[in-house]
This record gives sequence, C-alpha cells and structure tokens, in this order.
Amino acid sequence: MMHIISCQQYTRKSLEELFILTDDVKNNPQKYKNALQDNIIAVMFFEPSTRTRMSFQSAILRLGGKIIVTENAGINSSTTKGETLKDTIRILNGYADAIVMRHSADDAAQVAASVSNIPILNAGSGKGEHPTQALLDVYTIREKRGKIDGCKVAILGDLLYGRTIHSLLGLLCLYDNIEVYGLSKNAFALPQKYVNMLKENNIDYKVCHSFDEIPKDIDVLYHTRIQSERFEGDFGKEEYIINKQVLNKFSQHTMVLHPLPRVDEISSDIDNDPRALYFEQAYNGVPIRMSLLLQVLGKDKEIMSK
Ligand code: CP
Repeated sequence: MMHIISCQQYTRKSLEELFILTDDVKNNPQKYKNALQDNIIAVMFFEPSTRTRMSFQSAILRLGGKIIVTENAGINSSTTKGETLKDTIRILNGYADAIVMRHSADDAAQVAASVSNIPILNAGSGKGEHPTQALLDVYTIREKRGKIDGCKVAILGDLLYGRTIHSLLGLLCLYDNIEVYGLSKNAFALPQKYVNMLKENNIDYKVCHSFDEIPKDIDVLYHTRIQSERFEGDFGKEEYIINKQVLNKFSQHTMVLHPLPRVDEISSDIDNDPRALYFEQAYNGVPIRMSLLLQVLGKDKEIMSK
C-alpha cells in the first residue's frame, strides 16, 4: 500500500512512471473512466483550497469514483470537539478506500499515514510539503521543455513558508545539471536546510537581489504568493512582480509558473503571453491526481496496458 506524503519518496524512475501514466490518462481518458467505480475517496481539507481540492474531486469523478467530503474540516469535523487527527483517520479507514487531506501541521500527513491502512494523499501540510503540486509542476515543465535535466529554475516570492517551493526543490534534486536561482525579500529567504539539500545534490543555489541577476535564458520563473496566513505581522507586499516589462527581459522559451492563487506577484498583463503557463499548469492537476489515485489504489498497470 502506497501513501503520497513527501517528494522525498520519489526516485527518477518512479517519477517517470507517473509521468508516462499521466500522458496516457491525458491522451486516452476513456480508458480510465470506470477505473474507480468501486471506490469511495474521503476528501478532508482543514485549510482553504480551490485547485487542489476541486482537481482531486474532478479526478475522482473522471475515474468513476465516489466522494465523501467534510467541507471546512477544521470547523465542521469532530476535531472541534477534541477528536485527534489519528482517531479521525482511523474512523475514515472504515468509510473510504483512500483519504485526500490538507492540514496546517507540517507533519499531518505522516501522522495520518502512521495509523492508516488505506492510502493517504497529502494535499498540503503546513509549511512543509505539497507533493502533488510539485508533481504537476515538474510534469508541466517536462511537457513543455521535453526534459528536466539541465533546467535553470528561478524561485520567487515566499521561499520560507512556500510548501510548493520545498516540494519542487525535492523533485529537482533527482535530475542532472539543474541550476536554481532565488529572488525574494530577505524575510522570506529559502531556509538553510533546503539550501543544504540542493548542495548535497550538486545543485548550485544562487541568491539574487533583482531580476537582472537571473539569467536571461532561464527556463522557469516559478513565482509564489507570500503565505500571510502562516505568520503574525505585516511584511508588506511582494517587491518582485512579473509584468510585461519584466518578462520581456527574458527569453522566448522562459516559462512562467505559479501554483496559484496569485495576489499581486504576477501582473494580469502577461496572462495572454504564451510564456505564461500557470493556468495550463493548474489544469495538469487533474491528470496528475488521476494518475496518483490510480497508482495508490493499484489500478494503473492493468488499465494502461489495455
Ligand atoms: N496550488 C494550490 O494548492 O492551490 P489551492 O490552495 O487553491 O488548492
């Protein structure tokens, strides 16, 4: 039985298997439309979400599965009466075949997995990880660029609390000749443990202080929102905004990605630029999450080979 907890669990081979399955899911959706007809998936979000929750729900429905949901689990589930996360997971084990969960605690997915006999899919855990987002991010880069090796990636925005950034870096460590550039306010700099992780995997991490320090031929500008819900106080607005003037400094092959939602870090004046790929990126959330559900429920290989 397989959980999806962290990007650290992936190898290059397991990532490629996921991406090949996702290509097939995208190209041949009819093959998979009844794959989960006998399955019920519990969807439990303790934090707000549009993309992750609804793309998981869309993925389940496109696979013919059924969904049970706790809307606003932090308010409407029995955790408000003092029930522990472990007990909640034990109960859902009797009601569903897999659990998709978002939680504010960094270790919530591990805690859930420690007592679960059915797969846990981490839909975002505190400031720690958001593995399914990083999987769709890397899938999008692979789809557009053809490969990940040799990719130059600039990470921007909230590198401190941004769980999508932390998971993305974990996956980039699996590839060769990667370069990573960071551009953020000092208050939101990348934690040392991730700088060390990159170094241990022979990836150069260069801290930049302006867009001019990012190479013109960068492959990916990956921006993120300041995660204001994760800290007290006011650190002001994002300083480094990608707009038409900024994007025009970069190459025609540079792709602009963002896990969304954006606030003010990407100007809508670039939305129609072919390099602005954040909406396509979000759409890839459905086929990637369809593939993850197929894998954790053991429905992938038989159907793909048909
Ligand atoms: N990218 C992402 O996690 O978006 P949501 O918070 O809307 O799920």
